[in-house]
Amino acid sequence: MTADSLSSPMGSVRLIGLPVVSDPRGDLTFVEGGNHVPFQIRRVYYLYNVPVDSERGGHAHRELEQVIFALSGSFRITVDDGRERREFWLRDPRTGLYINRMIWREMDAFSQGAVCMVLASQPYDEADYIRDYASFAEQTKY
Ligand code: TYD
Repeated sequence: MTADSLSSPMGSVRLIGLPVVSDPRGDLTFVEGGNHVPFQIRRVYYLYNVPVDSERGGHAHRELEQVIFALSGSFRITVDDGRERREFWLRDPRTGLYINRMIWREMDAFSQGAVCMVLASQPYDEADYIRDYASFAEQTKY
Protein backbone atom coordinates (compact mmCIF):
# COMPACT_ATOMS: atom_id res chain seq x y z
CA MET A 1 0.00 0.00 0.00
CA THR A 2 1.40 3.40 -0.94
CA ALA A 3 1.52 6.40 1.35
CA ASP A 4 -1.08 8.00 -0.92
CA SER A 5 -3.56 5.17 -0.52
CA LEU A 6 -3.19 5.39 3.25
CA SER A 7 -3.90 9.11 3.32
CA SER A 8 -6.55 9.31 0.60
CA PRO A 9 -9.47 6.98 -0.19
CA MET A 10 -8.90 7.82 -3.86
CA GLY A 11 -5.64 5.91 -3.65
CA SER A 12 -7.62 2.65 -3.50
CA VAL A 13 -9.88 3.34 -6.50
CA ARG A 14 -8.53 1.19 -9.32
CA LEU A 15 -9.37 -0.84 -12.38
CA ILE A 16 -9.56 -4.59 -11.78
CA GLY A 17 -8.94 -6.99 -14.66
CA LEU A 18 -10.82 -10.31 -14.62
CA PRO A 19 -9.73 -13.59 -16.19
CA VAL A 20 -10.98 -14.47 -19.67
CA VAL A 21 -11.30 -17.94 -21.15
CA SER A 22 -11.60 -17.60 -24.90
CA ASP A 23 -12.24 -20.25 -27.50
CA PRO A 24 -14.01 -20.30 -30.85
CA ARG A 25 -17.38 -20.48 -29.03
CA GLY A 26 -16.81 -17.09 -27.41
CA ASP A 27 -15.31 -15.46 -24.33
CA LEU A 28 -16.03 -16.39 -20.69
CA THR A 29 -15.17 -14.19 -17.72
CA PHE A 30 -15.62 -15.11 -14.08
CA VAL A 31 -15.31 -13.34 -10.76
CA GLU A 32 -14.76 -14.80 -7.29
CA GLY A 33 -15.46 -12.75 -4.17
CA GLY A 34 -12.39 -12.37 -1.95
CA ASN A 35 -10.16 -13.34 -4.87
CA HIS A 36 -10.68 -11.18 -7.95
CA VAL A 37 -12.51 -8.52 -5.93
CA PRO A 38 -11.25 -7.59 -2.44
CA PHE A 39 -14.48 -8.42 -0.56
CA GLN A 40 -17.10 -11.15 -0.28
CA ILE A 41 -19.92 -10.39 -2.70
CA ARG A 42 -23.20 -9.87 -0.80
CA ARG A 43 -25.25 -8.27 -3.59
CA VAL A 44 -25.31 -7.93 -7.37
CA TYR A 45 -27.42 -5.36 -9.18
CA TYR A 46 -27.52 -4.08 -12.73
CA LEU A 47 -28.70 -1.05 -14.66
CA TYR A 48 -30.25 -1.47 -18.09
CA ASN A 49 -32.74 0.40 -20.28
CA VAL A 50 -30.75 3.48 -19.29
CA PRO A 51 -31.60 6.56 -21.43
CA VAL A 52 -28.41 7.90 -23.06
CA ASP A 53 -28.83 11.27 -21.34
CA SER A 54 -29.34 9.71 -17.90
CA GLU A 55 -27.20 10.63 -14.91
CA ARG A 56 -26.92 8.02 -12.17
CA GLY A 57 -25.09 7.83 -8.88
CA GLY A 58 -24.67 11.19 -7.22
CA HIS A 59 -23.87 9.72 -3.83
CA ALA A 60 -21.19 8.12 -1.66
CA HIS A 61 -21.37 5.20 0.76
CA ARG A 62 -20.20 5.22 4.35
CA GLU A 63 -19.05 1.54 4.35
CA LEU A 64 -20.02 -0.12 1.07
CA GLU A 65 -17.38 -1.31 -1.40
CA GLN A 66 -18.32 -1.95 -5.01
CA VAL A 67 -16.86 -3.05 -8.31
CA ILE A 68 -18.64 -1.65 -11.37
CA PHE A 69 -18.60 -3.18 -14.85
CA ALA A 70 -19.92 -2.30 -18.28
CA LEU A 71 -21.18 -5.74 -19.34
CA SER A 72 -22.32 -4.21 -22.61
CA GLY A 73 -21.78 -0.78 -24.17
CA SER A 74 -20.01 1.97 -22.26
CA PHE A 75 -20.40 4.80 -19.77
CA ARG A 76 -18.35 7.25 -17.77
CA ILE A 77 -17.80 7.19 -14.00
CA THR A 78 -16.46 10.25 -12.22
CA VAL A 79 -15.12 9.56 -8.72
CA ASP A 80 -14.34 12.16 -6.09
CA ASP A 81 -12.79 11.73 -2.64
CA GLY A 82 -13.53 15.29 -1.56
CA ARG A 83 -10.10 16.38 -2.64
CA GLU A 84 -9.61 15.24 -6.24
CA ARG A 85 -11.83 13.99 -9.06
CA ARG A 86 -10.96 11.25 -11.55
CA GLU A 87 -12.77 10.04 -14.62
CA PHE A 88 -12.95 6.47 -15.93
CA TRP A 89 -14.62 5.14 -19.08
CA LEU A 90 -15.86 1.58 -18.71
CA ARG A 91 -16.35 -0.30 -21.96
CA ASP A 92 -14.82 -3.76 -21.47
CA PRO A 93 -16.72 -6.50 -19.57
CA ARG A 94 -13.38 -7.87 -18.32
CA THR A 95 -12.44 -4.65 -16.52
CA GLY A 96 -14.22 -3.32 -13.44
CA LEU A 97 -13.73 -0.21 -11.35
CA TYR A 98 -13.20 -0.84 -7.63
CA ILE A 99 -14.68 1.93 -5.49
CA ASN A 100 -14.02 1.85 -1.77
CA ARG A 101 -16.01 3.55 0.98
CA MET A 102 -16.40 7.35 1.10
CA ILE A 103 -16.01 7.99 -2.62
CA TRP A 104 -18.58 10.18 -4.36
CA ARG A 105 -19.50 8.77 -7.79
CA GLU A 106 -21.42 10.04 -10.79
CA MET A 107 -22.22 8.00 -13.92
CA ASP A 108 -23.27 9.39 -17.28
CA ALA A 109 -22.65 9.22 -21.04
CA PHE A 110 -24.34 5.81 -21.30
CA SER A 111 -24.23 4.31 -24.76
CA GLN A 112 -27.44 2.95 -26.27
CA GLY A 113 -28.21 -0.42 -24.68
CA ALA A 114 -25.44 -0.18 -22.05
CA VAL A 115 -25.64 -2.67 -19.18
CA CYS A 116 -23.90 -1.80 -15.91
CA MET A 117 -23.34 -4.56 -13.36
CA VAL A 118 -22.34 -3.76 -9.79
CA LEU A 119 -20.86 -6.21 -7.27
CA ALA A 120 -21.36 -4.95 -3.73
CA SER A 121 -19.97 -5.89 -0.32
CA GLN A 122 -23.24 -5.42 1.59
CA PRO A 123 -27.01 -5.72 1.08
CA TYR A 124 -28.89 -2.55 0.17
CA ASP A 125 -29.09 -0.10 3.08
CA GLU A 126 -30.29 3.44 2.49
CA ALA A 127 -28.67 4.50 5.79
CA ASP A 128 -25.26 3.78 4.21
CA TYR A 129 -25.81 6.45 1.52
CA ILE A 130 -24.60 10.05 1.62
CA ARG A 131 -26.70 11.78 -1.03
CA ASP A 132 -25.78 15.40 -0.30
CA TYR A 133 -22.43 16.53 -1.75
CA ALA A 134 -21.90 19.30 0.82
CA SER A 135 -22.36 16.81 3.63
CA PHE A 136 -19.96 14.37 1.89
CA ALA A 137 -17.34 17.09 1.44
CA GLU A 138 -17.64 18.05 5.09
CA GLN A 139 -17.00 14.43 6.15
CA THR A 140 -13.96 13.97 3.90
CA LYS A 141 -11.88 16.88 5.14
CA TYR A 142 -8.42 15.58 5.87
P1 TYD B 1 -29.46 4.33 -6.38
O1 TYD B 1 -28.43 3.55 -5.63
O2 TYD B 1 -29.67 5.76 -5.99
O3 TYD B 1 -29.19 4.25 -7.95
P2 TYD B 1 -27.95 4.82 -8.83
O4 TYD B 1 -26.78 5.01 -7.93
O5 TYD B 1 -27.74 3.77 -9.86
O6 TYD B 1 -28.39 6.09 -9.48
O7 TYD B 1 -30.83 3.52 -6.28
C1 TYD B 1 -31.98 3.90 -7.00
C2 TYD B 1 -33.20 3.34 -6.28
O8 TYD B 1 -33.17 1.92 -6.25
C3 TYD B 1 -33.32 3.82 -4.85
O9 TYD B 1 -34.70 4.10 -4.58
C4 TYD B 1 -32.90 2.63 -4.02
C5 TYD B 1 -33.23 1.44 -4.91
N1 TYD B 1 -32.29 0.33 -4.75
C6 TYD B 1 -32.69 -0.82 -4.09
O10 TYD B 1 -33.84 -0.95 -3.62
N2 TYD B 1 -31.78 -1.85 -3.95
C7 TYD B 1 -30.51 -1.77 -4.45
O11 TYD B 1 -29.71 -2.73 -4.31
C8 TYD B 1 -30.11 -0.55 -5.11
C9 TYD B 1 -28.71 -0.39 -5.67
C10 TYD B 1 -31.03 0.47 -5.24
